[in-house]
Amino acid sequence: MKYRDYFQNKVIWITGASSGIGEELAIQLARAGAKLILSARNEDKLNALQDKLENHNQHMVFPLDLANLSNLGDKISQIMEKYQRIDILINNGGVSQRASAYESSMEVNRQLMEVNFFGNIALAKAVLPIFRKQRSGQFLIVSSIAGKFGFHLRSIYSASKSALVGYYESLSMEEAPNGVHVTLVFPGKINTPISLSALTAQGQAHGIMDHNQSAGMPVEQCVQFMLHALHKKKREVLIGRKELIAVHLKRFFPKLFWKIIPKQPAT
Ligand SMILES: NC(=O)c1ccc[n+]([C@@H]2O[C@H](COP(=O)([O-])OP(=O)(O)OC[C@H]3O[C@@H](n4cnc5c(N)ncnc54)[C@H](OP(=O)(O)O)[C@@H]3O)[C@@H](O)[C@H]2O)c1
Repeated sequence: MKYRDYFQNKVIWITGASSGIGEELAIQLARAGAKLILSARNEDKLNALQDKLENHNQHMVFPLDLANLSNLGDKISQIMEKYQRIDILINNGGVSQRASAYESSMEVNRQLMEVNFFGNIALAKAVLPIFRKQRSGQFLIVSSIAGKFGFHLRSIYSASKSALVGYYESLSMEEAPNGVHVTLVFPGKINTPISLSALTAQGQAHGIMDHNQSAGMPVEQCVQFMLHALHKKKREVLIGRKELIAVHLKRFFPKLFWKIIPKQPAT
């Protein structure tokens, strides 16, 4: 996949950069010559990541909590002061769920929507005026296979990920004349620690590395597909292995989908 030149010197803001997919995106994009803004809550992890990245002086650590985005305007000004532009926003930060709709408290439902949906779109809204002024910019939005269909123990997670689809498809149509492009990514099972921090019914961390995760696609490969999609300005991309069949089953053979998929293990 020849995307190396494409990312050279591009200013790319990555959320969820302290772990998993976001961390690997940072590693591969730094290797490709991009200038990175690394965001997540855990500042120590972000600093450690910056230290090990190629050209580490040209990147910036920018801690934030997607559930509590205050003074976003000031933060954007700091980024603009350093780089004078933003080429790509990778809205990747997110949290999963391991509890039924019946058990999950409304507090957990709201918290998950705040992180996965409202925090996500708040960043996009803050960056959009810059993209419009530049008359160019790309959003890479990390939804999930759970944004294509609901699944056991993922009610609000699935809702948050499908909400992103409706929001960004609309934005994409509205902003295309302004040079803004949206790529929606739908990962299946990827080998990251996401199940460890997934929220249980009362908001505790699940704390277990689920089999579905550890047996998933290696994160390095997932990120290669993501960067290829970004480079090619694809509108959407499904990334994963045999679990992706479920998306096609639901579309073309819905009866079969409802027969087979509810029997699949949720962890
Ligand atoms: N792994 C999969 O199988 C899979 C499948 C489909 C979709 N996805 C999506 O891929 C994205 C990345 O997940 P991952 O698999 O890489 O999981 P991960 O390793 O757990 O990474 C999640 C990232 O999100 C950040 N984050 C969580 N809550 C946050 C908050 N309140 N504010 C700011 N940042 C926050 C975390 O950083 P801090 O804790 O430092 O804040 C971390 O950097 C997520 O949106 C996830 O839904 C993953």
